[in-house]
Amino acid sequence: MRVDVLLGLQWGDEGKGKIVDVLSPRYDIVARFQGGPNAGHTLVIEGKKYVLHLIPSGIFHPNTHCVIGNGVVLDPVTLKAEIEKLQQVGVDVRSKLLISRRAHLILPTHKLLDAASEAAKGDQKIGSTLRGIGPTYMDKTGRNGLRVGDLLSGNFEKKYRFLVAKHRRLLDAYYGYEYELLDESFLEAIEYLRGFQLINTEYYLNHALSQGQNILAEGAQGTLLDIEFGSYPYVTSSNTITAGACTGLGIAPRNIGRVYGIFKAYCTRVGSGPFPTELHDQTGQRLRDMGHEYGATTGRPRRCGWIDLPLLKYAIQLNGVTDLIMTKADVLSGLEAIKACTAYEIDGQQTEEVPFEFTPGIRPVYETLSSWQDDITAIRDKKLLPASLQQYVDYLQQHLKVPLTYLSVGPDRSQIMPMQVLTA
Ligand code: IMP
Repeated sequence: MRVDVLLGLQWGDEGKGKIVDVLSPRYDIVARFQGGPNAGHTLVIEGKKYVLHLIPSGIFHPNTHCVIGNGVVLDPVTLKAEIEKLQQVGVDVRSKLLISRRAHLILPTHKLLDAASEAAKGDQKIGSTLRGIGPTYMDKTGRNGLRVGDLLSGNFEKKYRFLVAKHRRLLDAYYGYEYELLDESFLEAIEYLRGFQLINTEYYLNHALSQGQNILAEGAQGTLLDIEFGSYPYVTSSNTITAGACTGLGIAPRNIGRVYGIFKAYCTRVGSGPFPTELHDQTGQRLRDMGHEYGATTGRPRRCGWIDLPLLKYAIQLNGVTDLIMTKADVLSGLEAIKACTAYEIDGQQTEEVPFEFTPGIRPVYETLSSWQDDITAIRDKKLLPASLQQYVDYLQQHLKVPLTYLSVGPDRSQIMPMQVLTA
């Protein structure tokens, strides 16, 4: 048995939560491998909307176990709130959720440091979700972090106070940041988490593999926010790519099976940083309105633009994508025409290579494609798709050289159709 990976090929918000929910019945275990509560995975089940920040999106399926892997940074306050909400709707989180002892903890002071760092950057700010992600990963790589397993040691409180004192010195002396430290709810949540299954998930997952169980690794954010290959420094602080599933779960590379690459039929980005195909016009606003493009975590309006094929090809290459899944095709319905960026013009030369940096002179080169006017949200059979949408799908498959396995035409878990026969 292999671990299949599901991740975003753009700047996040590709609709991964919904797809994980749809695919979950095929898997015994769904495991998050990186990121933290900066993610907001939205699921719509029978008209009711759920947003998950830390818990894997397989949690709604009765037979699926969910793992928060070692690569995740975990905010106990967010997790406690999320668990309580799920319990209210009858989900048995306590027996289904397993948390890695090696996952790092986000402290209240990490969030303050995030805010102080962004404020200090002024107009160069990353546009962080301010959930403490960057400072927590900094403490992890700086070898100062606190981990879930520390909750089980007798001296957690002492370790916590020690790290908080260090953060306070940074906030006071380095940033000169004014703040009030409220950590009551953090300490309460820490106590609460002690009652959950805090285990060595790398053993759990590898044992499950040896027993023939199916595992889906659920990515957060997107490839273009990857710390190595994303639009640095406007990125998140983790490896969002397939390789991150190996380090973030303790799975050997040879155990990776399918890689599902999720992308929107257009492109969005939230926060600062380059976006070559961004639309600042009415079409951009229309995509935002029709696609409800407002952040699931922060509520910020998302920047919208056309699909960018060189970036998608780059993401496919980095991740070894075997199956493409396109979401939000319905949002393009009713446009006059659709454009796809096929290359960049740099100093009068066309290239498909993603440059080291997107400097202002770089111009996207577009191809224009026919649009469709029909409402496609009720279609469940690919044979009934408008001809122009089928042509768009064919065009993308031809350029991206990977088959499109599913097409999603709305937010509900039912609004999706297979485009190929999915073999085991
Ligand atoms: P951070 O990871 O919260 O520090 O944010 C760094 C950058 O990644 C910012 O531009 C955020 O808007 C973006 N980002 C972080 N998480 C997500 C996500 O789940 N979806 C989309 N963008 C995200």
